[in-house]
Amino acid sequence: MIPTARQSRPRTYLMCAPEHFVVEYAINPWMDTTAPVDTALAVKQWDALRQTMVDLGHTVHLLTPQAGLPDMVFAANGGFVVDGVAYGAKFRYPQRADEAAAHRAFYESRDEYAFVAPTQTNEGEGDFAYLPDAHGGIALAGYGFRTEPAAHAEAAEALGRPVISLKLVDPRFYHLDVALTVLDDENIAYYPGAFSDASQRVIAQLFPNAVVADEADALAFALNLVSDGRNVVINTESTAFAAKLTAAGYHPVLVDLAELKRGGGSVKCCIAELRP
Ligand code: ARG
Repeated sequence: MIPTARQSRPRTYLMCAPEHFVVEYAINPWMDTTAPVDTALAVKQWDALRQTMVDLGHTVHLLTPQAGLPDMVFAANGGFVVDGVAYGAKFRYPQRADEAAAHRAFYESRDEYAFVAPTQTNEGEGDFAYLPDAHGGIALAGYGFRTEPAAHAEAAEALGRPVISLKLVDPRFYHLDVALTVLDDENIAYYPGAFSDASQRVIAQLFPNAVVADEADALAFALNLVSDGRNVVINTESTAFAAKLTAAGYHPVLVDLAELKRGGGSVKCCIAELRP
């Protein structure tokens, strides 16, 4: 069967250079404080990612990296924006708490966003995803490790969209964005084993055409990708999953982000999508 031609759409993203990236605390199973980090290499790999997004025709805004906030490169965690409403983040761990203010300042400095301050713990697009054309426009939201379920309700109220709560059960996949990804306006890919049995049934009901990843794909952080609807930017360790995406009609674009994996993140973690 010949897959349907996929359409890209121009996007607006927010990123932050890993100038101060190190692994000096461990808040997920991927972080090893005894293994040295090559910060210069991380910056180089990150910059190639930034350039890739620009070359694909997208707009990339930048946050100024701050000393003492080594995880700030994982810009996806700083908020969740739908139709110009930016629901702010409230980080689970104190080591990252101050990142929220930098994101808030960005949204408040720009007219196209209305910022909603959170009262509940949530890590932005780390645990929230949005599909404008699925079921009239729904958000998916993870809980179990970082984001509190109460934040899902708070996001639904802030954004005026249904928010579907999904329970994450495997600590290696501690954020939704390492277990599930949005491929285009209506479809997703996911690794079932990262979710509770009940949440697997919820996902299968809502997304019968989802691309299914296996454990090896998920461990390579294949699902931590950024798609514009056609071009799917994915890390170079994920060649097996890239082949599955090609078979489904998407166009994988591979980037090496190995040094950032030491922090427990890949492509998507580094990129917040802004939906002005
Ligand atoms: N070290 C960071 C943390 O554990 C990594 C965050 C990865 N970001 C993401 N969107 N999954 O919080």
